[in-house]
Amino acid sequence: MKPLAATLPFPETLPEPRQSLRVAGLFAGIGGIEEGFRQAGHHSQLLCEIEPGAKRVLEDRFPDVSIVEDVRDLPSLGDVDLVAAGFPCQDLSQAGRTAGITGDRSGLVGEVFRLVSDPATTPKWLLLENVPFMLQLERGQAMRFLTDSLSDMGFRWAYRVVDSRAFGVPQRRRRVVLLASRTEDPRTILFPDEAGPVIEERERNGRACGFYWTEGVRGLGWAVDAVPTLKGGSTIGIPSPPAIWMTDGRIVTPDIRDAERMQGFETDWTVAAQPEQPHRLGARWKLVGNAVTVPMAKWLGQALAEPREVPELTETEIVAGMRWPDAAWGENGQAWKVDRSSFPVQWERPALETFLDHDPKPLSLRATAGFLKRADQGRLRFVDGFIDALHAHHKKMSAL
Ligand SMILES: C[S@@+](CC[C@H](N)C(=O)[O-])C[C@H]1O[C@@H](n2cnc3c(N)ncnc32)[C@H](O)[C@@H]1O
Repeated sequence: MKPLAATLPFPETLPEPRQSLRVAGLFAGIGGIEEGFRQAGHHSQLLCEIEPGAKRVLEDRFPDVSIVEDVRDLPSLGDVDLVAAGFPCQDLSQAGRTAGITGDRSGLVGEVFRLVSDPATTPKWLLLENVPFMLQLERGQAMRFLTDSLSDMGFRWAYRVVDSRAFGVPQRRRRVVLLASRTEDPRTILFPDEAGPVIEERERNGRACGFYWTEGVRGLGWAVDAVPTLKGGSTIGIPSPPAIWMTDGRIVTPDIRDAERMQGFETDWTVAAQPEQPHRLGARWKLVGNAVTVPMAKWLGQALAEPREVPELTETEIVAGMRWPDAAWGENGQAWKVDRSSFPVQWERPALETFLDHDPKPLSLRATAGFLKRADQGRLRFVDGFIDALHAHHKKMSAL
């Protein structure tokens, strides 16, 4: 990352928000959106989450909020101001099956549409969150379905791809944030802030670098001074931590508690997930990997508390056959691309290595050997010294 001349400090204390919203959190997971919104002065009125471990975390962290398990059993949302729905992305994500937005699980977005069409519920805002691959899915058809459905229901919508590194955490994580309203203008929330574009760096230059040890043939997830996206699953089928090449040459994997912090949660946020088997961390990694980064939601929550003017932006109409850009808005079946980067702000971000509070574990001998084998078979190009560092690590681990 190229540092910007002026970085904004991470706002620890917030001014009294002008508007405090009542939130219904669907597909709430471990509450990344809801916790960020809470920090921005809003409050959850209803949570919906089907997975037992995630539900236990919500019960632990939001003890006063009622939780419904299955969105399909929810008759109505009642009187709320904002409906948040990071609907399941398995069908949408590159790693998953590309069954599309009408596939079994992403078909759940249909449940969101049912709930916001209920005349008894007139939320001011609808927030959808998902992986950027949703913009390319079915050559853009999935996104067209989504935006056309919103238009048909009378919503004006806007979306922006944002990167968690903008919000003070050392994790590269790009997510689409889509906001829609029948009465408000979502451009007043998503577009006023701009701190980018930020040029992606590749060279190590004395910093720790993150990568996926589970890959190595086609992808690497290389990130300078950050970890790549924490994931709920991996190419080897289980949720697993990324690896970090430390400045002293060690190859390590971070502790789950630091992964929680890389998502902006407090340490041990997910400890309630598996009370019977606290030493088995797979479930916690999965929940953390699926979550929304808390300070990203806090930024959004702050913007929702104090909407600003629609900024003057150059717009290009998006016509059939065009790729969906990284930021756009639309209404009445029409859509326009706008020039907004994935860094709306750049809150101060600690170096990856100093961010780690807990001793990381050395990458195991087996994992290192597997990675080196894949790297040898593939055609990826690595930065100078990286493969040598892995060989040195392998030698050290073999000697133990
Ligand atoms: C991408 S995750 C959302 C993560 C969440 N935003 C967070 O910060 O942790 C999607 C969630 O939808 C939940 N889910 C899937 N099907 C559901 C259903 N029918 N009813 C309620 N929740 C469901 C999954 O268990 C999963 O936790």
